[in-house]
Amino acid sequence: MIHYKTKEEIELIRKSCLLVSATLSEVAKFLRPGVTTLQVDSMAEQFIRDHGALPNFKNYKGYPFACCISVNDAVVHGFPTNNELKNGDIVSVDVGAFMNGFHGDSAYTFAIGSISEEVKKLLGVTKESLYKGIEKAVSGNRVGDISFAVQDYTERKHGYGVVRELVGHGLGRHLHEDPQIPNYGRRGSGLKLKEGLVIAIEPMINMGTKDVFHDEDGWTIRTRDGKPAAHYEHTVCVQKGNADILSSFADIERNEKANANLVSDYHA
Ligand code: MF3
Ligand code: CO
Repeated sequence: MIHYKTKEEIELIRKSCLLVSATLSEVAKFLRPGVTTLQVDSMAEQFIRDHGALPNFKNYKGYPFACCISVNDAVVHGFPTNNELKNGDIVSVDVGAFMNGFHGDSAYTFAIGSISEEVKKLLGVTKESLYKGIEKAVSGNRVGDISFAVQDYTERKHGYGVVRELVGHGLGRHLHEDPQIPNYGRRGSGLKLKEGLVIAIEPMINMGTKDVFHDEDGWTIRTRDGKPAAHYEHTVCVQKGNADILSSFADIERNEKANANLVSDYHA
């Protein structure tokens, strides 16, 4: 069942999404070699609660943390751990917040210190594929137009692997609502997009094979070949002409740049 949102509901979802974005901007400042992903999780959870919201992933189907933090070959749903991040790692931080009855959901993949050109390209192409998908999230198009745009750019143009087992989703009063938004598919297929449909688009892109497996912790999804994976997620609302992006990477990107300068000054 599809729930189309009113103007008022969309503004409440935007508030939740912008809190998620603010949390990820704090994460961007906090990340550096030596920090553990459990420290990142605690910081993010405190930030969300301090702003009057709940970390909605916590206890979702039994998930035990506020954030999903996935390092290197972990694609998504990574458990925060006591392991220290090190120079050259990449880390996807997926955050959700619930307030005023509505959910927000967004994710960003960060580089720790300096990463190889090859991995930099994976991050750039994955982020770009998210925007290629968002470009198609307009009324009159179909879900398959979003899916095709992501797959065409990452898999056909760049030779990466698109994860099949996990998909984007509708959201609103629930974290996961219909429809599903796969990152692979045929143009012109699937549900027709209408104004007021709010969806999370979240490409999960592997540098190597598309195949993944479930880690023994029961949650973490890892690449089959051990190569790195990237993940970016925006919550967007379908409109005429262009999608309304309810989450924002602007502050995250600013803090990410400032942090990168700091790390390189430190090493200089
Ligand atoms: N953003 C993630 C998703 O849409 C939420 C993870 S649910 C959790 O799949 F249970 F793992 F937290
Ligand atoms: Co999501």
